[in-house]
Amino acid sequence: MCDRQIAEHFEFKLKNKIITAPLAGISDRPFRDLHSEFLPGLLYSELISAEALIRKNQKTLKMLDDACGSDYPVTVQIFGAEPGQFKNAIEYIQTHYNPFAIDINMGCPVKKIVKNGAGAALMKKPELIKKILETICKIAKLRITIKIRLGWNNDSINYLEIAKIAENTNVSAIALHCRTAVQMYSGKGDWHYVKILKDNCKLPIIGNGDILNYDDYLEKSRFCDYVMIGRGLLYNPFLIKEILSAGEYKHNITDLKNIMKKHLKLLVDYYGEIIGVKHFRKFFGWYVKSIANAKKFREAGFRVSKFQDFVLLIEEIYTPTFPDN
Ligand SMILES: Cc1cc2nc3c(=O)[nH]c(=O)nc-3n(C[C@H](O)[C@H](O)[C@H](O)COP(=O)(O)O)c2cc1C
Repeated sequence: MCDRQIAEHFEFKLKNKIITAPLAGISDRPFRDLHSEFLPGLLYSELISAEALIRKNQKTLKMLDDACGSDYPVTVQIFGAEPGQFKNAIEYIQTHYNPFAIDINMGCPVKKIVKNGAGAALMKKPELIKKILETICKIAKLRITIKIRLGWNNDSINYLEIAKIAENTNVSAIALHCRTAVQMYSGKGDWHYVKILKDNCKLPIIGNGDILNYDDYLEKSRFCDYVMIGRGLLYNPFLIKEILSAGEYKHNITDLKNIMKKHLKLLVDYYGEIIGVKHFRKFFGWYVKSIANAKKFREAGFRVSKFQDFVLLIEEIYTPTFPDN
């Protein structure tokens, strides 16, 4: 048995089943800080380029520094296409930081990533995945996890093959987004594949795809050890709290307005007023989706450029669909 197998600190054990998903351009420090208050078991960083890390790109180093400087558990997700790239990036990370885990992105279907052979393009090359995982698991002093899709397309569903490679190279856990790469985010994720993976793999399995409410969680969490939630947090920023209270907690309009103000403030404190407000506009669009006059508020949000004006706009929100109005 190799060192990785016996070392306890490679074990993947969280205090609850909830993991926040990596969301490029979204799951930044303010977003993670906001959701860490609801105490999920683990939070993912944004996607970080292994190559940019090796070149010591300042923006990338800052993303890494932010991810690893939190007082809650964070997995740093990296992408790349070559074993050497991953090796160097992981050596850099573990020399300077101690995140909960490093995740290798094998699921991103975005053109600018796959055209360089990274993200979901890796799933077309199981031999390369084997080489990457053998190389990095040999040197990694931290947990290594992988995030995969079902395969590139319906004719090449190969997640079980990739899982077997991960098992044999002593990866600590596998996250499966149960769509193919060409599906992008369309249609519904097929959770019966998550169950098959759980039944056929010894590693802890993180199921991912379309958990938007507590009922989704109840239905889908049966199939795996952990669940990863992405877009659900955008439509309902209280989703983690709702799930961890076993469906007891339901937010009202005041709660929603307060969390919007909190997120706005975190963004402005972090990025400054101009960029912070700009970032918040997209979140605002998601947050108001469930309220009356959503379109009117979303459009108004796009005209706001000052922190204080956004606070006033949030204060204006009134909806008869919420119990305390
Ligand atoms: C805007 C956006 C950005 C994403 N960025 C990443 C990423 O950087 N890395 C990754 O592995 N997955 C990324 N994903 C995929 C999510 O992590 C997740 O697998 C997917 O959204 C399905 O989960 P959900 O239905 O809970 O959102 C992204 C998804 C969206 C919508």
